[in-house]
Amino acid sequence: MTTVPTDGKRKHVFIRTYGCQMNVYDSDRMADVLRPLGYALASAPEQADLVVLNTCHIREHASEKVYSELGRLRDEKQLRRAEGRDLTIAVAGCVAQAEGEEIVKRQPAVDIVVGPQAYHRLPELLAEAERKAAVHKAGKRVPGAGVLDTDFPAESKFDHLPAPQGARGGSAFLSIQEGCDKFCTFCVVPYTRGAEYSRPAAAVVAEARQLVANGAIELTLLGQNVNAYHGEAADGSTWSLARLVREIAGIDGVARLRYTTSHPRDMDDDLIAAHGEVPALMPYLHLPVQSGSDRILEAMNRRHGRDLFLGIVDRLRTVRPDLALSSDFIVGFPGESDSDFDDTMRLIEQVGFASAYSFKYSRRPGTPGSSMPDQLSESVKSARLAALQSLLGEQARVFNVSKVGQSVPVLFAEPGRKPGQIIGKTPWLQSVYAEGPQRLIGRIVETRLIEGYANSLAGEIVTGAYEAAA
Ligand code: 5AD
Ligand code: SF4
Repeated sequence: MTTVPTDGKRKHVFIRTYGCQMNVYDSDRMADVLRPLGYALASAPEQADLVVLNTCHIREHASEKVYSELGRLRDEKQLRRAEGRDLTIAVAGCVAQAEGEEIVKRQPAVDIVVGPQAYHRLPELLAEAERKAAVHKAGKRVPGAGVLDTDFPAESKFDHLPAPQGARGGSAFLSIQEGCDKFCTFCVVPYTRGAEYSRPAAAVVAEARQLVANGAIELTLLGQNVNAYHGEAADGSTWSLARLVREIAGIDGVARLRYTTSHPRDMDDDLIAAHGEVPALMPYLHLPVQSGSDRILEAMNRRHGRDLFLGIVDRLRTVRPDLALSSDFIVGFPGESDSDFDDTMRLIEQVGFASAYSFKYSRRPGTPGSSMPDQLSESVKSARLAALQSLLGEQARVFNVSKVGQSVPVLFAEPGRKPGQIIGKTPWLQSVYAEGPQRLIGRIVETRLIEGYANSLAGEIVTGAYEAAA
């Protein structure tokens, strides 16, 4: 077992997070696991004894970035070894899960490879890596480089992770569900994160209370397929996401509640109703549709068509007319014709999104999409992505501008780049910049929106709101 250093010198860990909010949550959990071992957080790899890359495998570009970072870390490690010091390099997350020991073959400087389900085992993996490093230092041959744990253990990592430490700027993530059984034909998640798993309701509610006690006033419930949540409750019944949302919204101190990422097929009646009935549930929903063409949605194995999605949007807007909708889009899926792409553009026009993420289709080894015929050229994908992003960008700007003139509650989360500036979020998740004292960070303050841009708004804190927030 690795022990806290007794020489008074603290060890430092630098964690670099790639990809989704699940990874942000996991990085925080890894920091929590490492803290009792004496690891404080470093703000750069150069200041760290241990660097963890928490990786994303969703698109090719995401995994390639990891390997170039590993090249830089290998150079740093070699420099240090020349001076008799060391650097421990760990690869965590979905690239670790998908590529396992391939990572160590491609970059032998890597000491530890740990999949998303094994973070609670980091202390053991570190101890083993330290033993191997000691053998190496003694000039002996190391029996197999790298320490690997990419199992999907029967017991949940959540039962072994320490309690979360707290909230940043009043906001905290809470992972309630992991994995996915949907098997969209483009996606690696069912392979890297495994089968769908919902944490028991009582554990989630307890963690929510803990986060609030630590200063969170906004909670975002996380899962790869969060609205498929079906957690076991203490009485043996099963709670849906809607049930959980209502319960957590009832915790004293929870001012704002969000959840992400959802699948259209799992937007049940009660969850839609909750958007009209639960005031803490913010008027924002990220609901990936991927394509507006029924033919492509079928080939993607999305299990929903265009009409199902549009029907959900209508029902949501009936119960919550100001709902800001966000989505994910993929252009250039194999076989996507001009007319399929046009269907996507028409869907976007019909819905009107407040924000969106859009990607060129990326061929992921092992997924059914990667071996489909009629893969599209890079140039077609690029042209379609540009057209789609220009439409979505304009919709986002129009949405932002539509709020100008309103006074709205803003949760300030961090200092801005300019002195005296703070940045927060509106209920619709737009970023707002305003002049204001740092003590407002972590608080909800009434702010008048004075100008709207493509990606943000400028605001003015309403006179008297300081005192109200104090
Ligand atoms: N290529 C491009 N985009 C992808 N996504 C997932 N897999 C791929 C892929 N192979 C996108 C989807 C998903 C988001 C998280 O990433 O839009 O909703
Ligand atoms: Fe991937 Fe589809 Fe599951 Fe979302 S629903 S995580 S896109 S397989």
